[in-house]
Amino acid sequence: MNTTKKEIYLDHASTTYVRPEVVQAMLPFFEQKFGNPSSLHHLGLEAKSAVDDSRNKIASILNCKSSEIIFTRGGTESINLAIKGVASLKGKGHIITSTIEHPAVLNTCAWLEKKGFSVTYLEVDDDGLILIKELEKAIRNDTILISIMYANNEIGTIEPIEEIGKIAKKHKVLFHTDACQAAGALELDVNKLGVDLMTINGSKIYGPKGMGLLYKHNNVKLEPLIHGGGQEAGLRSGTENVAGIVGLATALELAQKEKDKENKRLVELREYLIKNTLKKIFKSFLNGHPTKRLPNNVNISFLDVEGESIMLYLNEYGVYVSTGSACSSQKLQISHVLNAIGLKHDAAHGSIRFTLGKKTTKSDIDYVLKVLPSIIDSLRKISPVKMKMSEIREKKYVHNVIKSKSLSFVEASSLSGKLDQSRNVAVATGSSLREDRASEVFVKDFEGIMHI
Ligand SMILES: Cc1ncc(COP(=O)(O)O)c(C=O)c1O
Repeated sequence: MNTTKKEIYLDHASTTYVRPEVVQAMLPFFEQKFGNPSSLHHLGLEAKSAVDDSRNKIASILNCKSSEIIFTRGGTESINLAIKGVASLKGKGHIITSTIEHPAVLNTCAWLEKKGFSVTYLEVDDDGLILIKELEKAIRNDTILISIMYANNEIGTIEPIEEIGKIAKKHKVLFHTDACQAAGALELDVNKLGVDLMTINGSKIYGPKGMGLLYKHNNVKLEPLIHGGGQEAGLRSGTENVAGIVGLATALELAQKEKDKENKRLVELREYLIKNTLKKIFKSFLNGHPTKRLPNNVNISFLDVEGESIMLYLNEYGVYVSTGSACSSQKLQISHVLNAIGLKHDAAHGSIRFTLGKKTTKSDIDYVLKVLPSIIDSLRKISPVKMKMSEIREKKYVHNVIKSKSLSFVEASSLSGKLDQSRNVAVATGSSLREDRASEVFVKDFEGIMHI
């Protein structure tokens, strides 16, 4: 990064820098210990031993056998190997995934559909959580695989992986989880999680880009995607990226060691950023689950503005973030994740993802809180769009919130909405009384799902 200008990197979900300890661990494998692990001389054996050590370290973090770790060239490749690997061996069948997966999963599933497999894309609720009951209902006799992400890369929502694992086991269906955003922050014990396959990459955990791994339970059989010299137990041929493997293991080991302390620090900063942004900037709301979310993820929508403009303005101030929309040809396309949680096009346009990291400090967040309100203000002044907070969601998604029994019936005087007294249900569509929610449904003694 530019060292003269103040720069605040809040895009750690896109990628992280490689931490110095990882660089140090990798360096010897470029020039001195450069052997090919398949060679039988000293240099080869030295490289092989580095690969073996790394595999053992990772296996102890994941609580699995070393033979269950396959090194790959990144998250996308691991995901392809898991999904296509299972599918090609089975030859036909049904796969269950969700509408908010990373394109690596969605496009792999779409490709398999063209080859004759059928795929169920589970919808999520307004917070981005899959509905467990819907998952169980979707399982068929010919279901060969469930692939649900551990934590979402855009809105940070953490899916109920252990529950999914139990259901998959009960129905004897293989379960893969994409843990690219979860590694370093969440539990990775594959036995506790009940996963058969799990994808992790290096680029989100202060490790090297282009490095990934697939955990595969020894009982799971996969068809390789890449054929060649038979490395990685025949599942990923090609000379091993020894430096990358050492870097990935070092990064994961350090992340695991620091996880609890770092999570606590990040959650405090995250909450500080959320609370103060929503307080200082009206017509803004949080996307993703308020508590079941990654410690470093803040995704906020600002009505009547375009995320790309906010992002470019912030860039001028040296603050680097991501948007929930991207310009494709002439029109702004909103992210499939924001669409899946029911946001209307215009509401999703002004979404910004801030993802904090190891070097993020409170003073960085204070700086953002200082510059952001005036950026939004200036953009709103020239914006032709004027949305109401009550209009942010497509109505069809409102029912999803109702499943949350924890919500209490509160005075809705500041809200407008429908009151169905016969069923003791109120649907309020206005500014929330809770700070972190923009539109809310207040329910008392409600059972089941209501469609409005
Ligand atoms: C959730 C998730 N899955 C998969 C990937 C793809 O990983 P890679 O870029 O290492 O191929 C990413 C990276 O953006 C991600 O965030």
